[in-house]
Amino acid sequence: MRTDHFIRFERVDSVEETGHGLLARLHGEQLRVDVVRPDVVRLQLSRGGRFDDTPTYAVCVDPFEADVAWSAQPVGGDSGPNAAWRLSTDELVVTLWLDPFRVDVHRTDGSVVIESAPDAEGRYWTYATLNDAWTTRRRIGRDDAVYGLGEKGGRHNRRGRDFTMWNTDVLNEHATAEFRAGLDPADPRADMTSTEFDPYYVTIPFFHLRDAATGAAAGSFVDNGYRGEYEFSHDDDYRVTFHGGQWTEYVFAGPSMAGIIERYTWLTGRATLPPLWALGYHQCRWHAYTQADVERNAKRYRDDEFPCDGMWLDIDYMDGYRVFTWDSNRFPDPAGMLKGLANQGYRTISIVDPGVKHDPGYAVYDDGLEQDVFCRTEGGDTYIGQVWPGNTAFPDFATPEARSWWGALNAKHVESGLAGIWNDMNEPATGNIPAEAMLFDRGRAKHERFHNQYALLMAMGTIEGLKAARPEARTFVLSRAGFAGIQRYAANWMGDNQARWDHLWVSMPMACGFGLSGQPFVGADIGGFQGDTNPELFLRWMQMGTLTPFCRNHSEIDNIDQYPWSFGPEIHDLTREAVRLRYRLMPYIYSAFVRATETGEPVQRPLVLDFQGDPNVVDLDDEYLFGRDLLVAPVTEQGQSTRSVYLPEGDWYDWHTGELHPGGQRITVDTPLERIPLFARAGSAIPMWTEAPASTDGYRPETVELHVFEPVVDGRWESRLVEDDGLTVVEGAPERLTTTVTVARAAGEVTVDHETTGPGYAGHARTRFEVVHHTPA
Ligand code: NOJ
Repeated sequence: MRTDHFIRFERVDSVEETGHGLLARLHGEQLRVDVVRPDVVRLQLSRGGRFDDTPTYAVCVDPFEADVAWSAQPVGGDSGPNAAWRLSTDELVVTLWLDPFRVDVHRTDGSVVIESAPDAEGRYWTYATLNDAWTTRRRIGRDDAVYGLGEKGGRHNRRGRDFTMWNTDVLNEHATAEFRAGLDPADPRADMTSTEFDPYYVTIPFFHLRDAATGAAAGSFVDNGYRGEYEFSHDDDYRVTFHGGQWTEYVFAGPSMAGIIERYTWLTGRATLPPLWALGYHQCRWHAYTQADVERNAKRYRDDEFPCDGMWLDIDYMDGYRVFTWDSNRFPDPAGMLKGLANQGYRTISIVDPGVKHDPGYAVYDDGLEQDVFCRTEGGDTYIGQVWPGNTAFPDFATPEARSWWGALNAKHVESGLAGIWNDMNEPATGNIPAEAMLFDRGRAKHERFHNQYALLMAMGTIEGLKAARPEARTFVLSRAGFAGIQRYAANWMGDNQARWDHLWVSMPMACGFGLSGQPFVGADIGGFQGDTNPELFLRWMQMGTLTPFCRNHSEIDNIDQYPWSFGPEIHDLTREAVRLRYRLMPYIYSAFVRATETGEPVQRPLVLDFQGDPNVVDLDDEYLFGRDLLVAPVTEQGQSTRSVYLPEGDWYDWHTGELHPGGQRITVDTPLERIPLFARAGSAIPMWTEAPASTDGYRPETVELHVFEPVVDGRWESRLVEDDGLTVVEGAPERLTTTVTVARAAGEVTVDHETTGPGYAGHARTRFEVVHHTPA
């Protein structure tokens, strides 16, 4: 049996001050403790004595751009168990213990941010040579909660479970007989319908830890793209392991989760403001469509006065799954079709997978070979995997040349009139050919270094091309996989879910996990992707999905039809009501997205983000806030006619009945087929369009309604409406109109004020606000 050899970082030999903090020497390696912000420090361990200053493409700013005051001094004597260096900022204190070596971080009030924990042999931080694994252990309370890690299955509080960080085509991996045969029947993955598959498509090594006693949160982002493990199942410590690379960790003192997200998205970037149409309703399906079918669907939506902005084309639009081609039998006139759709107010988005068919004579393949932009094997050959087209080469997105090459292909592809790009299979999925044999950077980099970053790099290349093609237009890319920072380039959908009630439910904690991890633009396949949906499930999913950031109906090939009109007039009309509500709420949804681009604040969020001190919401993941002021409590079971809803602090208006409920309690609400529970926060002013247009295209209403939900206690509330053309890139937003609505109540008297700033944009038509008062009476 092979036993691993642990390098134990036992004792610090010396410590010195640097321009940014401390440098400690230990066993030939070095540890840096760098001050990034008063509430953020970076811990970095060298490897072979050297530091990797660009471990991944996640961080997009100079972490040291701010001039932050700090001081450091030795404490506790030169040696012995109390000997340490202490580094302080205005908000935190780092203690670097010399013997045994470990690092703790506290807030200046003494509360814990991170506290190291030893393993059975007294090791705090180890490097295991056999499996190239860095592991660190930290204390955690049994009732502390863990949130984030991006796209993960199961409950939104990650405490009690372990997770692997390795971008995976979940379904393919878990569907294979070999994989399932090897599983313990008790393993949740043995059940193909589980909501706890792990790992998933996206890796974001960032989490929040909420202290059960105080409600204060701390954050950790390990900037490492290699395979990793987060173990939160142990009683008193949690463990983080990365197999390769170096240890580069940003520690966030919090204590507010919103503040941690603000800092994390300053480092890794914020979502780019999407075009308004991307926030509309989208029609997608994997199906061997013809041009006539697509045109027929488009017409049907318009005939039915069913709002819809996006028509999507899955892999069958291509010629034999060759990327950047069209099947000319099925689609005789793509440009004509796209123009026709555009004339009816649709944007069309096509899928583009990374795999390039290995097919000498096919221009994209030949050119890729000639430009030397494909991934290689150890022997220097082109790596070939197995995806839709059969033998498939993969662009080496780790090189800027391959990214630019890909960008140019995308730029050309959208010349036909496509509005956006859908990136799938970019984990990368390689079928039954092991991905590990795929090397990057012209064969110089191991697969493991870039695997988790593949989709991020692909999106970077795609965006480069889209910007070159239409510099003035906002970009839209939807990606399946991703890494920390993916929010800068793409939205994520949650991949292949199943048409089951528990998969409807799990899309809530999953979206919230994304939102707490810096990615606000997310959505699940509405109706369920795999398996046949049913009328009730479809309706309930549409009612919820229209109140999520990305709203797309999608299903797998060979399923029953899943159009709004597929289930008879009642379902048709009720789903249309749901979509119409989304469109009427568009000014509110758009303003929430603007906020996300400014602060990282998620659009769909768990209640614990806004009510961090409330113990009742720590494990609450069957309802969420949509923007700051709407609370959504979906129906998650068949035949459900009532449901219990927890209302947090404040007062809440039932959207449908107008009834006012004080928060801090659970209430039971009826859930007739026509609606799911929805509440508006008292004090808010929710901007709405007066009607639901067929699409956002060219819609410039003269009136915007401000729905004021009157407060019943004295106080002051601010809401914001942001208006611009929704299409062009607004660097610095010079033409944007920002309206702040202030609702105040003093001595029982409610006043509503508004102030609009900004010059306005070409085409702006709004001349008036119409205030709609919602009162308890
Ligand atoms: C897998 C994707 O997750 C799914 O959305 C898509 O329909 C199929 N690939 C076919 O492209």
